Amino acid sequence: MKNTVSTFRQQKESGDRITMLTCYDYSTAKLMDEAGVNSLLVGDSLGMVMLGYPDTLPVTMEEMLHHTKAVARGAENALVVGDMPFLSYQVSTTQAVENAGRFIKEGHAQAIKLEGGASVCEQIKAIVTASIPVMAHIGLTPQSINAFGGFKVQGKSLEAAKTLINDALLVQEAGAFAVVLEAIPAKLAEIITEKLDIPTIGIGAGNCCDGQVLVYQDMLNLYGNLKPKFVKVFGDAGTVMTDAFKAYFDEIRSGAFPAEEHSFATNLDESELEELWKL
Ligand code: KIV
Repeated sequence: MKNTVSTFRQQKESGDRITMLTCYDYSTAKLMDEAGVNSLLVGDSLGMVMLGYPDTLPVTMEEMLHHTKAVARGAENALVVGDMPFLSYQVSTTQAVENAGRFIKEGHAQAIKLEGGASVCEQIKAIVTASIPVMAHIGLTPQSINAFGGFKVQGKSLEAAKTLINDALLVQEAGAFAVVLEAIPAKLAEIITEKLDIPTIGIGAGNCCDGQVLVYQDMLNLYGNLKPKFVKVFGDAGTVMTDAFKAYFDEIRSGAFPAEEHSFATNLDESELEELWKL
C-alpha cells in the first residue's frame, strides 16, 4: 500500500512510529521499499554523500530532480519527499511554488521538504495552497551552516528552545504535514512532539519523536567524512564493499576470475578454430 500524508497522520495518532531514510537512486530505493520503509527522502545531503561537495549549499534543482526521478521509479510504496536545495525557495513564494512543482511534475515525488521555521511560513502556505504537501525542517538546518558557524546542536538555551517551539507551531499552522527535528536536545524534541498534531521526524533529536530519519550512507558506514554523534551504524556495508573490491582485484591479478562458469563456450569446431588461429 502506498504511504501518503494520511498514513503519516494516522501513524502519529496510533503511535506507530514512522520510518524514513534518505535515498538517491533507483536500486537502493527498491531495496528500501521492499524492506518496508514508510518514506524516502531525496535529501540535499546527496551533495555531500553522492557528489562529494563539502556541504549542501552548492546543490542545484537539476541535481535534485535527477536523483528524485530515479528514487521515484524504485519506490512502489514509500512516500517520496524531494528536498528543496539552497536558494530554490528562499527568494520568493513564486519561486518556491515553481520549484516545489518541479519536484512533483518532473521528479514524481509526492511531497517536498524545506528548511526553516517562521522565515519560510509564507512559502509553506503558498506551496500547500498549490496542493503540494510540505515537510518542514527545523533545528540544525544544514543550509544555514554559515549562519550557525558549523554543524552545531540547536535549541540549547531557554531562548533558543522557545524559538524552536514557536517555529514548530508556526510551520504546523502554515500547513506542513510533518516536521523534521534535527540535532536538538531530546527533551525539547519530546515537548515539540507532544505539542504538535503533525508528526515529528527526528534525526539527532532523541527517542520521543513520531518517526526517525537517517542518511543511509551514515547508517551503513559508507561515508567517513562526518560522523555525527546521533548516527548508529546498522550494517557495515562500507567494509563489505571494500573487501569485495579487493577480492575482485586479487582474482583478476591471479587469473581466478573470470572462471569457466563466467565465460561463453564457442560453437565452432576444431577446424574452424584452426582457421581463426591462422588469420
Ligand atoms: O538532506 C538530508 O538528508 C536531510 C536529512 C538529514 C533530514 O535533510
